[in-house]
Amino acid sequence: MADSLPLGVLVSGRGSNLDAIAEAIETGRLVATIKVVICDQPGALALDLASRRGLPAILFERAAFSGRTAFEEEIVRTLLRYGVRLVVLAGFMRLVGPTLLSAFPNKIINIHPSLLPSFPGLSAQRQALDYGVKFSGCTVHYVNGVVDGGRIIAQAVVPVQSDDTEETLSTRILTEEHRLLPQAIGFLVF
Ligand code: GAR
Repeated sequence: MADSLPLGVLVSGRGSNLDAIAEAIETGRLVATIKVVICDQPGALALDLASRRGLPAILFERAAFSGRTAFEEEIVRTLLRYGVRLVVLAGFMRLVGPTLLSAFPNKIINIHPSLLPSFPGLSAQRQALDYGVKFSGCTVHYVNGVVDGGRIIAQAVVPVQSDDTEETLSTRILTEEHRLLPQAIGFLVF
């Protein structure tokens, strides 16, 4: 049997992708262990979810640190302390800097709600609707210093319907995110 991959999951908000990873592990579809959840937003739903699932969760508020380097140094120390080998950004809404990148080279991945390289950054679903694309989707990719940049690992496509709102499109994409992210983690060879 494969060794269980030790994950650190970074979140900022609702945490539905965190939940999807935890569910995939629980049901045996993914051989991994969530060692620690790190959140940068007080009151994020992801923190409640982690506690309901009995996952160690730590809040680091960026404003409590003198700068990004100090903030990321603390994150790196924590990830190393928990023995993390793969860092998963699951709705972590912050650009990752050199401190974190150099501590986990090619070991940080992100999920984004568009078919990258189209529509990086915020409100990807709104951007897709405004552009009038007929297909959108989600992307799991390695993280580099560029917003939603980095080599692509996996993508899933969804149709865009003529009466879609940001909400209906986001919901359709999110269903695929929840399937794709655990699957992509499982693809990675360590
Ligand atoms: C997801 O749609 C994820 O793809 C997106 O934030 C949402 C988080 O939802 N991430 C980005 O836009 C990163 N650029 P969740 O907190 O329910 O997992």
